[in-house]
Amino acid sequence: MNGEKPPLGIFGAGWVGLVTGACFAALGHDVVVRDVVTKRIDDLNAGRLPFHEPGLAELIERNQDRLTFTLDVSELKTGTDIFFACVDTPPTPSGDADLTYVWSVIDDLGDPGHATLVMKSTVPVGTGEKIRATLDQRGLEGVAYVSNPEFLSEGRAVEDFMAPDRIVIGALEEGAGDRVAALYEGFDAPVVRTSIASAEMIKLAANAFLATRISFINEIANVSEAVGANVDDVAYGMGLDKRIGTKYLNPGIGYGGSCFPKDVSFLKLLAGNSGYHFQLVSAVIEVNDLQKRRVVTKLQQRLGDLRGKRIALLGLAFKPNTDDMREAPSLVLAARLQAEGAEVHAWDPLVTGHPDLDGVAIAPSLLDAVRDADAAVIVTEWAELRDLASTEVRESMRTPLIVDGRNLLDPEAVRAAGFQYEGIGRA
Ligand code: UDX
Repeated sequence: MNGEKPPLGIFGAGWVGLVTGACFAALGHDVVVRDVVTKRIDDLNAGRLPFHEPGLAELIERNQDRLTFTLDVSELKTGTDIFFACVDTPPTPSGDADLTYVWSVIDDLGDPGHATLVMKSTVPVGTGEKIRATLDQRGLEGVAYVSNPEFLSEGRAVEDFMAPDRIVIGALEEGAGDRVAALYEGFDAPVVRTSIASAEMIKLAANAFLATRISFINEIANVSEAVGANVDDVAYGMGLDKRIGTKYLNPGIGYGGSCFPKDVSFLKLLAGNSGYHFQLVSAVIEVNDLQKRRVVTKLQQRLGDLRGKRIALLGLAFKPNTDDMREAPSLVLAARLQAEGAEVHAWDPLVTGHPDLDGVAIAPSLLDAVRDADAAVIVTEWAELRDLASTEVRESMRTPLIVDGRNLLDPEAVRAAGFQYEGIGRA
């Protein structure tokens, strides 16, 4: 036990659970992280992280004296009365959230007596109310329930945890909210105290709004192409308006990842299930789906029939600095290109394979990927691709065509280096 800082129990050794656990350990809490997957716990105990997240391995290593990884729920429950639920809520085939793991947490919690259960997992609005009702039915009135959504972004999750824009705490009982707020004492961030439903909604609304910005700028990019404007200048000029801001206005081949696609869909279905047709988020989803395919049209315009053409996809992860392939636009793009008869080669600094990349040749290096290619497509804006327009790359390609799906490169410099260039929304 650790002096003033209360020990914490975390359900789920996934990305949210490990970042949360490691960061609270770094803040001085003793933390027990429990998962049901034996291999995951074995790996963690052997010092292996199940995914790539900058700074996390070092943080775990530095705070190993305060971190325990276990399969044993009783070890989790010993010595603490504050529990975080950091379990996966994947989409079901209907697009709704699968809350199986959340309900397992409630079951595994059993009767901890007087305790606080803090929900970090993203759940549909109304879940907290259902959990409260279940706890009450089970005679667990002593377990307070608090919604404390995470706003961590992959690749910078430790930073996001330690320096958040805000801390959202939704609680029924003020005392329980105070308890969770105390865990964040010393953080230089506004604390939003609200109802459980509002806290749940803040998470969904924030992600849906960011996704809306991305789909919006992608449509502006598409129109810019048609009318001869340059979306980079448009986004910059728009973003300087303080009411708008410059962030999340980078056009590209669409958003992916474990959060935006899922949360936008959760919000759409949540509205629909409550009898409201949320038109705007439906459009955001549709624009994003179509955006992933626009690159195929661009390639067809340049190369004609893609049958037998060799296309190099550069970057596979849904964004740089992660190996996460969930909802990665590269998966849709690779499948579309294969459907058109193209021969797809790919390279990513971290991703070396994926079950949905059947038939895609994963190259061991960037140069291997672009060799004899008819086009190189920048799918993920990895820093490693900034120097793509090199003589070596140009000479090894069959056609020196770069389709820049993330507007990563300077078009003039690329053309001056002897390449054909096509970006997104760049006149
Ligand atoms: C996001 C939110 O940022 C985070 O607050 C939330 O908790 C989880 O979802 P993450 O999924 O890690 O985090 O990625 P983020 O960096 O936000 O990017 C999401 C997707 O949007 C990526 O595919 C990215 O390439 C794309 N994107 C982002 C754009 O296409 N344009 C932009 O301007 C910004």
